[in-house]
This record gives sequence, C-alpha cells and structure tokens, in this order.
Amino acid sequence: MNDPTTKTLAELGISTPDGVSKLFADVCQQFDNQNIGQIALAGGENRWEEQRGTWLGRRSGVLSLITDNWLKPAPPELKRVVGQELNKLKAHVEAMLEEARVQIDAAADQAATAREKIDLSLPGIQRPIGTRHLVRQTYEELFRIFLSIGFSVVEGPEIETPYYNFEALNIPEHHPARDNMDTFYIAGSRSPHLLRTHTSPMQIRTMEKQPPPVRIVVPGKVYRRDNPDATHGYMFHQIEGLAVDTDITFCDFKGTVDHFAREFLGPKTKTRLRPSYFPFTEPSAEVDASCHMCGGSGCRVCKQSGWIELFGAGMVNPAVYGFVNYDPQRLSGFAFGMGVDRLAMLKYGVTEVPLLFQNDVRFLGQFP
Ligand code: PHE
Repeated sequence: MNDPTTKTLAELGISTPDGVSKLFADVCQQFDNQNIGQIALAGGENRWEEQRGTWLGRRSGVLSLITDNWLKPAPPELKRVVGQELNKLKAHVEAMLEEARVQIDAAADQAATAREKIDLSLPGIQRPIGTRHLVRQTYEELFRIFLSIGFSVVEGPEIETPYYNFEALNIPEHHPARDNMDTFYIAGSRSPHLLRTHTSPMQIRTMEKQPPPVRIVVPGKVYRRDNPDATHGYMFHQIEGLAVDTDITFCDFKGTVDHFAREFLGPKTKTRLRPSYFPFTEPSAEVDASCHMCGGSGCRVCKQSGWIELFGAGMVNPAVYGFVNYDPQRLSGFAFGMGVDRLAMLKYGVTEVPLLFQNDVRFLGQFP
C-alpha cells in the first residue's frame, strides 16, 4: 500500500498549509472509517489494544511516523501548521480510544452482571420433609396421655439378666415364658444374659432405685423368638406402666385404663376386663376396648365380637415387692404392658406387621 506516513511532506509534494490540513483530514478520515468503537466492542480488550498500538504505538504507530516523517523534516513555514494538525489528530484519536475503552468496560460489566444474576423464578431444589415413623407417633401419643396424668417416662436395657426378666417378676424356672423357645439367650456371656422378652424388668429396676410412690411408663423394644408372619416378628415395641403408692386400688386401675382407652381410641370407647394370668400381677386381666371401627356392633376388625383386645395388666403381685424391699402391707399398685405396634396397627388400620419395619417410604409417608 502506498502509505503517506512513511514519506516526508516534500516527497508527497505538499508545500502549503492547506495541503497539510487536507493530508491530516485524510488520515483522520481513515481513522474514523475504522470505527474503533465497533471494532473494540466486537473484539473486546485485545482488538482495542491492537488499535491503540496501530495509532499511538511509540515506535511504529501512525502518529509516531507522522512526527518523524512529516513534522521533524518539515520546512519552517509549515512546521506550525503540521504541529497544530498533529496535536488535533492526536487528541481526536485519544478521545475516540478512550470512548471505546469506556464502552468495553461497560459491556464487560453488563455481561458479568447477567452471568451472576440469580433467577428467582427458577424452581428450587426440593428437600422432602420426612415423617415420624408410625410407631414413634404412637409412642408420642401414649406419652402425651400418660404424662398428662402424672406418669414419667423411663427407659432401660434391652439386654437383661434372667433375674430382672423373670426371677424378680415372680416367674419361676418352669414358667413357659422362660422357655428357650421364646427367649433369645446371648451365647458366650460369662453370666447368663438375654434379650428382654418384655419391658416389665424395668418395674423391678425402678422400684430398686427409688422409694414409692412410683408412676412410670417404659417404652422400648422387646424380643421373642417367633416365625415371622403378617402379625409376628422377632422384635416388637411395648410400653410398660407401673403405679405404686400407699392407696392405689383396683378402681384407680380401672379408671386409668378407661381414661387411656377413651383418649387413645375416642371418647365413646368402653372397656372390659377379662381374667388372665401373669406371675407378677394378681389379679391379672386382659383389657378389651369396644371396637373403634363399628362402635361395638361387630365388624371385620373386631371379628364380629364388638371388642378388641388391647393389653395385659393387673394389680402388682405382693410377691414382687419382696424382691425390691417394698412393704407389701403398706403398698399397692397396678401395672400394664401394651404392644405398641399392635396399638398403632389397630388405630391406623395397618394389617401387616412387616410394613412397619420394611422402611418403605411409600408406606411410611402415608402417616404424616
Ligand atoms: N409383660 C407382660 C407381657 O409382655 C404384659 C404385662 C405387663 C402384664 C404388666 C401385666 C402387667 O405379656
């Protein structure tokens, strides 16, 4: 290309101020034609630097060439006008570059803001809220009922000794509950240990530790050897109850049972007691409630009987007091042991025990 900036004014044949002005106007036009703003915006920082180098570069920028080739060798009569035009051109180029620079920065800022912008309309990450297990819910319901009438909650070990599980509960050696068929004994322990078959050992542990009066409920897992089916497993949950004081009668027992049944199954619920047998209660009873499904007229749930078996209970057998140094002449009380899984299934219409322990959220989620 025939670049005028590599030649002197003399070589270009320019000798008048007008010629000089025209020459600078051409260069300026050339600069403007490049449309520095557009280039810089499209190409960003790099293209801007490139343009600045082309025009303002110290050694081979257009303005340096003009200084070297036009200004310095200019004849004295043209020097002034060349200098003025050069300053004008330089100011123009710098101003345009600066303007482009500002545009680039603004565009970069805008892009960054767009990138970092949080879109509040996007759907969030769902964190499903779990539900309390049906057995836990039932426990909490039972706690509520018994805490409100003065009982407290205590817990005890699942691994027990035969003494607490049987002996101190007045269950002698030959009693069927001691049968190997029902009880998991723990192999290899120096003194015999077993998985408790009921929560009743906590009756003994509590009375050993504290003087009367006693009003406790004891939640917990119990274990019995069994062939698993729809209504049996090798583990289930119980809640034990024990009330001992100087003036507790069978009426208190029946009243507590009634209150519980009404709170748990509904205010219209009636109860009845059937004679039963437990070595640690005397007399013993099975507590039935009028069927909460049919109200007592007979349905599938109560097998047409109108009654539902709730739990075993009775007045504390005075023989038990002998094991804990309580005075059987002065003290009396009642005890009960409920199957919590059973109560949960009754109340919520669950028919299969395994459903409670398979941890299938499709089942568990039905009891929010
Ligand atoms: N421990 C008895 C059982 O598991 C239930 C029970 C507890 C009965 C307290 C009477 C008194 O079958």
